[in-house]
Amino acid sequence: MCGIVGYAGARPALGIVLDGLRRLEYRGYDSAGVAVVHDGELLTEKKAGKLANLEKALSERSTVEPGSDLDGGAGIALGTTAIGHTRWATHGGPTDRNAHPHRAHDGRVAVIHNGIIENFAKLRAELERQGVEFVSDTDTECAAHLLAGELARLRAAGEPDGPHLLAAAMRQVCQRLEGAFTLLAVDAGIPGAVVGARRNSPLVVGRGVGENYLASDVSAFIEHTRDAVELGQDQVVLITADDIEITDFAGRPASGKDFHIGWDASAAEKGGYDYFMLKEIAEQPQAVADTLLGRLTESGEIALDEVRLTDQDLRDVDKIFIVACGTAYHSGMVAKYAIEHWTRIPCEVELASEFRYRDPVLDRSTLVVAISQSGETMDTLMALRHAKEQKARVLAICNTNGATIPRESDAVLYTHGGPEIAVASTKAFLTQLVACYLIGLHLAQVRGIKYADEVAAVVAQLQEMPEKLRRLLAGIEPVRELARELRNAPQVLFIGRHVGFPVALEGALKLKELAYMHAEGFAAGELKHGPIALIDQGTPVVCIVPSPAGRGVLHDKIVSNIQEIRARGARTIVIAEEGDRTVVPYADHLIPVPRTPTLLAPLVTTVPLQVLACEIAAARGHDVDQPRNLAKSVTVE
Ligand code: G6P
Repeated sequence: MCGIVGYAGARPALGIVLDGLRRLEYRGYDSAGVAVVHDGELLTEKKAGKLANLEKALSERSTVEPGSDLDGGAGIALGTTAIGHTRWATHGGPTDRNAHPHRAHDGRVAVIHNGIIENFAKLRAELERQGVEFVSDTDTECAAHLLAGELARLRAAGEPDGPHLLAAAMRQVCQRLEGAFTLLAVDAGIPGAVVGARRNSPLVVGRGVGENYLASDVSAFIEHTRDAVELGQDQVVLITADDIEITDFAGRPASGKDFHIGWDASAAEKGGYDYFMLKEIAEQPQAVADTLLGRLTESGEIALDEVRLTDQDLRDVDKIFIVACGTAYHSGMVAKYAIEHWTRIPCEVELASEFRYRDPVLDRSTLVVAISQSGETMDTLMALRHAKEQKARVLAICNTNGATIPRESDAVLYTHGGPEIAVASTKAFLTQLVACYLIGLHLAQVRGIKYADEVAAVVAQLQEMPEKLRRLLAGIEPVRELARELRNAPQVLFIGRHVGFPVALEGALKLKELAYMHAEGFAAGELKHGPIALIDQGTPVVCIVPSPAGRGVLHDKIVSNIQEIRARGARTIVIAEEGDRTVVPYADHLIPVPRTPTLLAPLVTTVPLQVLACEIAAARGHDVDQPRNLAKSVTVE
């Protein structure tokens, strides 16, 4: 959701910023724009729609001579200071006019923004009273006018001009804004400097040689540098070609946390696949292996990545809440089964967007587990903060190093899944499941419920998963064929029991978000209480069957459910363990998955559902990686 890039250096900035925006496309957007400072001029271009529209507009103006009607003509390609933005509309529709950057009334300042300025109506009214004319419907434009006003005021007061003036003005503006924001700004009169500010929205610094970067996440500058600086909340950062200066909003010097990015640009490329999603599905065996890497210490304990909690804190836990959104919420639903089974601690799973509004009962002995691939989902962050205010302990499962959610948590387990670019989550889900299992084992061990050898036995089962996943993916072609057959189905239903229930929900979510088809997931036992009425002649129903070797009663019950729906005309697509002959008579299509212990089964049963949704979407001609209306990282509530 909204991608931000800034560059200050010696090279022409436009191409660098556009490349950065391309790498941030996955966040989801509906318009794009750039602002370049060149020769004392501010040159901007912005367009609704995909980056291609912006690039077309830029290429048209590059054929125009400098000094023509188009501001700056070809000069936009020469400037060495620039900011760029991909916008996911909140205030005002996705039009050229509302696209960022927004220029201030002086025509000299340009601002880009991610987040929502909650007091924008008040600020806008105040600026309008002063005679400022607004040209867009956005909240962002307020920040541009305010910044120009502050710069003028500081200049009039005799403050020396230059990069520090830009930072000082930005600090003043930030003190007036409420809500969540990342802001970047440039001023035509201050070449070579980009200022950034951050409150509750992502912003990271890339440290280059003779050039520096600002971006929503590191993928925007990974091809130029792997040295980055994590910023804290409520900080202003000023970059020039040779310097990075960080302060708080009051101007006190502050420091960021340096880190090295452990993956390179190729990890964020498609690598021969038609879609990032296909690549990420294929990467799952490795991603699962990476999440597991080094988790069992020599003394047989499970190792998290960051722990600011004592074992006694964990022993005191008497209740667990898991909070998450979307696919991460489904991984939390699976985790509940494992955590309760292994630790005997009551565990509830909550949609992060609902959690704090229902006033949950939290105290020091409550553990809140926040699951988030991006680590920036605002709903999850707000749930986490609410939990902390109530003194609960917070543990994060996250794929993004240094993101806000892990930074604000008491303990962190990183999934180490590598960049996930496709909006629909795949490898993040599987690695979140692994992380949840590890946390369940860790809690059980610390509390003395499981001994080291029992923990090691489950870890060994987990370590077999990458190989099982490889085998499953090698035989996935029939699922692709089936997907093409189902492309025109009016609806697809999914049923499962126990951990198969969240898998059914995840399968339906994938199909909704990618194929824009009506799809629902149900607890198989619940069908007879209503949803069975949806089943018509030929309705495809995907049935997730647990291992017959596990809890026999579970297996038998779902086989009965399959018979019930088949008797009503359903076309059954049965996902069952290899060698499970009992389901054969009731399966119109059988998708075998490797034999896996019941609790771990979602690691294999989810994969065919990902492939099914991806292929149906492709067959229907949709943009698999960037489905309509969706954003990868949802940084507003
Ligand atoms: C968005 C994405 C989903 C994702 C959810 C939670 O809605 O489109 O794919 O599951 O956010 O994201 P998180 O980064 O917190 O896991």
